[in-house]
Amino acid sequence: MQTCLYSPRGGFYSSEETNIKRHFTTSPTSHPVFGSLIARQLEQMWHVLGEPPIFHVIEVGSAGDTLAQSIVRSCYRMNPRFSEALYYIAIDYQPCRVQFPSPFIDFELETEDEIYPYHNDIGSEIHRVKANGLQAFQNVVGCILYNELIDNFPVHRFAIQNGRIQEVFVTLSDSGFTEVLDEPSSPLIPQRISDLELSLTEGYRGEINLAIEDWTAQLSKTLSSGFILTIDYGDTASELYSPQNNQGTLVCYNRHAAISDPYQYLGKQDITCQVDFTSLMEIGHQYGLTTVGYTKQNKFLELLGLSSFLNTLQTLGLSPARTELNRIAMMTLVDSEEYGDFKVLAQAKGIELEFDLQGFRVNPP
Ligand SMILES: C[S@@+](CC[C@H](N)C(=O)[O-])C[C@H]1O[C@@H](n2cnc3c(N)ncnc32)[C@H](O)[C@@H]1O
Repeated sequence: MQTCLYSPRGGFYSSEETNIKRHFTTSPTSHPVFGSLIARQLEQMWHVLGEPPIFHVIEVGSAGDTLAQSIVRSCYRMNPRFSEALYYIAIDYQPCRVQFPSPFIDFELETEDEIYPYHNDIGSEIHRVKANGLQAFQNVVGCILYNELIDNFPVHRFAIQNGRIQEVFVTLSDSGFTEVLDEPSSPLIPQRISDLELSLTEGYRGEINLAIEDWTAQLSKTLSSGFILTIDYGDTASELYSPQNNQGTLVCYNRHAAISDPYQYLGKQDITCQVDFTSLMEIGHQYGLTTVGYTKQNKFLELLGLSSFLNTLQTLGLSPARTELNRIAMMTLVDSEEYGDFKVLAQAKGIELEFDLQGFRVNPP
């Protein structure tokens, strides 16, 4: 998985030829309102932190800068003072992939008659960095966020055979790539299964994301005070490693088709796996990151005011077709069949925990 996705020689994500929009869409590429709503959450985080003069937002795995653009624009419209403090860094292995103009409206540009010149040059407000993870950053005050990053971390596959945990390895035989079961390559694999107290039946197959540990260490080291916002598909461990998923959740995407075979289209297809949010929270806790919110994306976006944007859409005077096109795209963000069941996790470090994040309120006013 590491090689297929990230090898400098033809990995899916490291290849400049890969245009990921040809293979899958994501929430930020579905509609810019996703970024506008996250901007609202970031503004509240800035207040919680005491309105520091520099509020870093580090987006990891930004691909192009679709999300960055909509967040930076929205922050300006919403609160120029916050926008002054905002220092946005977009990190990716390949940060400048070709972007196509979105066919959807960007409320921050179209609800007002006058477009402030700042907006025309918004790209220059985003600091694009080509890097692997967060190693180059420290003393960050603000928020580290990422959408659909962790599901792309390489996983180890395991199987329960004769009551024992075995790892699924890959070898070459006359018939091509062949899976073989053997002792796990790392004691951390059975350790994680034991930590999660999973009871798995004979023949069960699943995946363990060991990269979460190193990633959490990076987050903790980089963030001095502030928040981490993880958005991805996945679930708590008890749901993820349930009997329904007894063949694992690894899946590949090639030209918008879901493919179960990772041994074809090498370097030409995405390989992904559902995220174990229990491990993210528990390992986070070991590294001083406190869970301050965990919810579904549809709830998160609704609490941040998606309905206000849906109402505004009706008043913009767009053609009925364009209004409907936008409405449908916005609704994909909260539709359970699309992105609505994605999970959003907020963690905090170095702050007094006396706040109630807007996107995670249990009893909103
Ligand atoms: C599924 S894409 C998501 C893109 C974007 N966040 C979105 O939601 O549209 C995952 C992105 O994460 C990047 N990526 C994965 N691991 C990374 C790492 N350790 N450091 C930097 N970028 C990484 C990949 O290159 C890819 O562009």
